[in-house]
Amino acid sequence: MADLRSNFVGIKSPNPFWLASAPPTDKEYNVVRAFKAGWGGVVWKTLGEDPHIVNVNGPRYGAIHSGDRRLLGLNNIELITDRPLQTNLDEIKRVKRDWPDRAMVVSLMVPCEEPNWAAILKRVEETDCDGVELNFGCPHGMSERGMGSAVGQVPEYIEMVARWCKAHTRMPVIVKLTPNITDVRKPARAARKGGADAVSLINTINSIMSVNLDSFAPEPTIDGKGTHGGYCGPAVKPIALSMVSEIARDAETKGMPISGIGGITTWRDALEFILLGAGTAQVCTAAMTYGFKIVEEMTSGLENWMDERGFQHLDELVGKAVPNVTDWQYLNLNYIAKAQIDQDKCIQCGRCYAACEDTSHQAISNAPKNGKRHFEVIDAECVACNLCVEVCPVEQCITMVQMTKGTDPRTGKKIDPKYANWTTHPNNPAAKVAAE
Ligand SMILES: Cc1cc2nc3c(=O)[nH]c(=O)nc-3n(C[C@H](O)[C@H](O)[C@H](O)COP(=O)(O)O)c2cc1C
Ligand code: SF4
Ligand code: SF4
Repeated sequence: MADLRSNFVGIKSPNPFWLASAPPTDKEYNVVRAFKAGWGGVVWKTLGEDPHIVNVNGPRYGAIHSGDRRLLGLNNIELITDRPLQTNLDEIKRVKRDWPDRAMVVSLMVPCEEPNWAAILKRVEETDCDGVELNFGCPHGMSERGMGSAVGQVPEYIEMVARWCKAHTRMPVIVKLTPNITDVRKPARAARKGGADAVSLINTINSIMSVNLDSFAPEPTIDGKGTHGGYCGPAVKPIALSMVSEIARDAETKGMPISGIGGITTWRDALEFILLGAGTAQVCTAAMTYGFKIVEEMTSGLENWMDERGFQHLDELVGKAVPNVTDWQYLNLNYIAKAQIDQDKCIQCGRCYAACEDTSHQAISNAPKNGKRHFEVIDAECVACNLCVEVCPVEQCITMVQMTKGTDPRTGKKIDPKYANWTTHPNNPAAKVAAE
């Protein structure tokens, strides 16, 4: 049986599935139930200074749903914990005492002054928790007060606060990054320079979910007004994966432990983050949508997959896909594929034809066959863009098939089995200059 135990910067947990800092981790009742369900760890809902903040008393969530009402994206205007600091600290201490084998990380956000960080770290240490996560990510409410993403968007501040925290605590320090930035490598590098043990990402993405067409106000609406909030859930996963991979392969942050967050709903999602360099996988929206029990499917799914493939430890998987992430210029331009329609699966809906004819390469014919609608790929036009695959409603009905020999009927060129990329391509002016 595969071993799912995780040791992330010295923080041990029976599996890599942690609940992210958010409503699922905002009190003892929730966290105890989460641990009973099997979660490997939690990052406690972000603590701040007293007097504690207040939340709105109206809707704080907005969402985007698929046609079948599955939740694809969630937006919130909630702030950090709205309970007194000592209440949270007492509960954290009790839960850690009762669940010593689970990871207990505490998320923190206080004003950007060294004494404030020193003071809260001292009190948090007394709970015997395993580590702290610095919330430099929250894009709404707290950022206007000079905290959250207001800090996360300035690498110098990240470095400075990380350094203070390392100076004032013996606990591991994880810096939680905001995605509301152009180049995520810069804050990650700053975290490392400041001595942080790890980074976690992503926090939520700045967003306005929708505008009500009757009230002309953004949603969620509080008494006729709305404000931007933080976007998360399955829709943000691709953004998070890309950012995690950027940090995993950057020369300056390579090897720095990463806790992956953003749209993780299944064990497959979590594994994708792990393969791109994450040591643990944090979950928020999926738990808020489906409840704590989803962790059962996550652990059994990952275990089964590892057993089937002969992997014994998580460490064998962390970062395994990173060498296969490259820049566009290194992609093999001699790789040739063509779309192929499985006529037995095709339901003759014509979506592939409409997409290719109107917006791609006019590479699908719609000439009827035996008096019936019929769609066929024209190899001499197909550039293998994959659009038809993505719009076809039938899974595996259209597939991409690599050409390994003969001539590409579109270009008339012989298939070249050798790898060749843009850096040496004759159409690349830079390559020409280099050759001369
Ligand atoms: C309602 C809500 C409240 C959140 N509060 C916090 C918070 O207090 N501190 C924090 O670091 N992140 C907070 N987050 C962000 C999550 O921890 C997580 O980074 C984000 O939701 C992306 O993960 P997901 O796609 O699994 O939800 C919150 C998210 C939601 C939905
Ligand atoms: S892969 Fe692109 S070009 Fe080829 S048939 Fe499909 S949509 Fe048309
Ligand atoms: S989109 Fe798919 S199912 Fe529809 S006609 Fe094209 S191949 Fe057939």
